Amino acid sequence: MADTEIHKGLAGVVVDYTAVSKVNPETNSLLYRGYPVQELAAQCDFEEVAYLLWYGELPTDAQLDEFTKLERSQRTLDPTVKKVIDELPLSAHPMDVVRTAVSVIGAQDETLGLDPTWIDRDLTQQRSITLFAKLPAIVAYTQRRLWGKELVEPRDDLGYSANFLHMTFGEVPEQVVVDAFDVSMILYAEHSFNASTFTARVIASTLSDVYSAVIGGIGALKGPLHGGANEAVQHTFEAIGTPDKAEAWLEDALANKKKVMGFGHRVYKNGDSRVPTMLTALETLTAYYERPEVLEMYHALDDAMNARKPIKPNLDYPSGPAYNLIGFDTTMFTPLFIAARITGWTAHVMEQLAANSLIRPLSEYNGPEQREVPASEKN
Ligand code: SDX
Repeated sequence: MADTEIHKGLAGVVVDYTAVSKVNPETNSLLYRGYPVQELAAQCDFEEVAYLLWYGELPTDAQLDEFTKLERSQRTLDPTVKKVIDELPLSAHPMDVVRTAVSVIGAQDETLGLDPTWIDRDLTQQRSITLFAKLPAIVAYTQRRLWGKELVEPRDDLGYSANFLHMTFGEVPEQVVVDAFDVSMILYAEHSFNASTFTARVIASTLSDVYSAVIGGIGALKGPLHGGANEAVQHTFEAIGTPDKAEAWLEDALANKKKVMGFGHRVYKNGDSRVPTMLTALETLTAYYERPEVLEMYHALDDAMNARKPIKPNLDYPSGPAYNLIGFDTTMFTPLFIAARITGWTAHVMEQLAANSLIRPLSEYNGPEQREVPASEKN
């Protein structure tokens, strides 16, 4: 084999520029369009951050007012989407239900038409806002049908996160819960060329449509090495049982070469810049719900890992237990990630289209040398 250098998993390979966000492992920081994500989480609502990711600047009051009016006008679950969801078995993973719902929305979009208006920037922006507005209803209804409950209609007098929780639980929780949920949406919104975002960019680079790019992103996000990890963290906590058993559980996991979900990161090697902010939100929730044992488990496993391997928690580690405390089923955790990351995915789709080049890497062939088909096979 030629001495071609293979970059498996594209680890460490820089493939393009992006102005959407900067992930800096050296300083353990994350900037959305230049703003530190910690400051955005502390001072902004998710709607403002969505606007920032799409338009590059934080909205003025007038721009935010117009943007939220547009978002709030599109929150209703479309009857056809509901009908299709109702046809799916309750055993279907919520990630597959949400992926199917997005497919229906795309298939119904008559502006896609036959003449590819697929790459029209304004139409792509409008479609992105529509998905942003409709995903809470899709995720909330996907959760409620698992509880045998009916759809809850949206309220246009509530902000994004309050309405999301209202549509899920049938009531608006205390502000402390709404705020913690909103922080998780902001932290999950964007993270440069992660696997699902890069998938969306690959699809956009062929000049396909934004719905196809998002559906590809959903497929990539489902995997436990990526977005599916937040669901897996909850399974880990339940498998361990009580904090005093965390050390023995970890010993066994590492001895069996298992990947401990919620730990490690391809880019951050000294800890995920988002974890401190999400841990604060988790601490608020454990105090509000009076569930100190959740935090004890969080620290027991983290301390046990820290004593053995230099592998730090990523955002999925505090997010999973936070969503469990709020009341979501475990299988709903990664669909919540979709509702947040729709902003980052679609911002990257529009950035890709603005300076596009078809994404098509090379490979080094290591199969059989050229050979003849045997004569007997030819006739
Ligand atoms: C997200 O890219 C993004 O930005 C993603 C994300 C985003 O916002 O979009 O941040 C969201 O996906 C966060 C990651 C969620 N995934 C998990 O929590 C799954 C568990 N984590 C691992 O699978 C792993 O850490 C990865 C996949 C996240 C990253 O792994 P790498 O960079 O490919 O490194 P590796 O798997 O080659 O690991 C290097 C070493 C190995 O040990 P050796 O074989 O060299 O002895 O570290 C070990 C690994 O075994 N290791 C782990 C581990 N993570 C790395 N060992 C146990 N448990 C882990 N979690």
